[in-house]
Amino acid sequence: MGKLGLGLAVACAVGSCAIAAVMVGRRVRSRRRWWRVVRALDEFEEAASTPVGRLRQVVDAMAVEMHAGLASEGGSKLKMLLTFVDNLPDGSESGIYYALHVGGTNFRILRIQLGGQRSILGHDVERKPIPQHLLTRTSEEFFDFIALSLKEFVERKGNNLQPSQVRGKDLGFTFSFPVKQTSVSSGTLIKWTKGFAIDDMVEKDVVECLQKALSRRGLDMNVAALVNDSVGTLAVGHFYDKDTVAAVVIGTDTNACYLERADAIIKCQGLLTTSGGMVINMEWGNFWSSHLPRTSYDIDLDAESQNPNDQGFEKMISGMYLGDIVRRVICNMSLASDIFGPFSSKLSTRFVLSTPLMAAMHEDDSPDLSEVAKILEETLDIYDVPLKVRKLVVKICDVVTRRAARLAAAGIVGILKKIGRDGTGGITSGRIKGVRSGKLRRTVVAVEGGLYTSYAIFKEYLNEAVAEILGEEIAPYVILKVMEDGSGIGAAMLAASNSARSVDTVQVL
Ligand code: BGC
Repeated sequence: MGKLGLGLAVACAVGSCAIAAVMVGRRVRSRRRWWRVVRALDEFEEAASTPVGRLRQVVDAMAVEMHAGLASEGGSKLKMLLTFVDNLPDGSESGIYYALHVGGTNFRILRIQLGGQRSILGHDVERKPIPQHLLTRTSEEFFDFIALSLKEFVERKGNNLQPSQVRGKDLGFTFSFPVKQTSVSSGTLIKWTKGFAIDDMVEKDVVECLQKALSRRGLDMNVAALVNDSVGTLAVGHFYDKDTVAAVVIGTDTNACYLERADAIIKCQGLLTTSGGMVINMEWGNFWSSHLPRTSYDIDLDAESQNPNDQGFEKMISGMYLGDIVRRVICNMSLASDIFGPFSSKLSTRFVLSTPLMAAMHEDDSPDLSEVAKILEETLDIYDVPLKVRKLVVKICDVVTRRAARLAAAGIVGILKKIGRDGTGGITSGRIKGVRSGKLRRTVVAVEGGLYTSYAIFKEYLNEAVAEILGEEIAPYVILKVMEDGSGIGAAMLAASNSARSVDTVQVL
């Protein structure tokens, strides 16, 4: 080999070494970036963790806050609203009743025929979108639209009725917003949630507004019950099973209610009910406790929301937010590394990843996680990520969902603790009793809402956590029962049970 040849060979060798060094360097850097992401995921998992000890602290905090909210108006972030529902349907109701459910961008009209003996003989439902512009107009325009839709429904569905079948056309009105009730069929709106902003309605009696709109449309119907969706769910639960004492809604939004002893409602002195109890609408979405495992993502989500410092529990557990928490985690990882490819601006768009899409990724059981890849591409403009990154996305969904389901479970056990159905002695004067002294009774909690009914992993995590917190001795006594469409049907049932009563069963002395 001449000098030139040798020179070339050396140059080639040096070149190859340099290329190899660059490649190794790249690989090392990429591996480092990958481990950084894995570490970030570990930290997130740790911050969002819900070991049973922490869940028990949340249970206690929920029970104590419930007590505080019942002791004085504004005594807790839990509003603990009176509902004036003191008797729940027991299955003996009969006749035809209508119900309206306003609680989101779709509303529902229902007509049910109750046959006594815990039976529903007929059930018609119509879902209608509420035109977007009505969500920010006047209460008159809004209720005119509702009343007209109801009128058309009654005319379509009710034309072959025998007059004896229509008991005064009593109507149940499910209104899934915080309302300060003044009787079972009246109450003023405290504030709007869910994107509604009909300003002239706040602090107005919602039943009066609806009743006036019904008269304007010439509809001879009487609003016999105004109920929160959680209360409707409890009513249906009790209609089928008299051991139902509480209800939880876990869908886009969340709430819970339960049957309380009238004498425990300290803020309402002199409250007398014939049953000795009253359903309390907790508005538990606003629950807060320092024991809740809050991460930096929750803090950012709250700060950027329309209602900072409000609905803290809801922001951790409900369908409105879970997808967005996942998006925030992915966004952060994508900013810190290139594992998701070039940064996609979609990742900065709030709520672009909905909870149903997140659930679909979480439940993707294909070997190559093709559903995850599809959703990343179609929703987030993230293309061609390797399998290990898809697995990481599934893991993020799992952390977020598991925390939500387990916290909701702790909330449920908190209610059971407050009413002495968790096997401990419950609470007295706001202090938790630790000794297992309560008598064990079968206890049913009615559950409604897509997160629980349609997201199998969420449901499994929630059920598992309830059993874990209660322990194997108590858990068999607590049953969670799904009530499909409970909130609307329950309102019709409450209209039935209230219209059957001619005297007021609740008095405030
Ligand atoms: C409302 C509650 C309602 C819950 C579930 C919350 O935003 O404040 O009144 O029960 O959503 O629909």
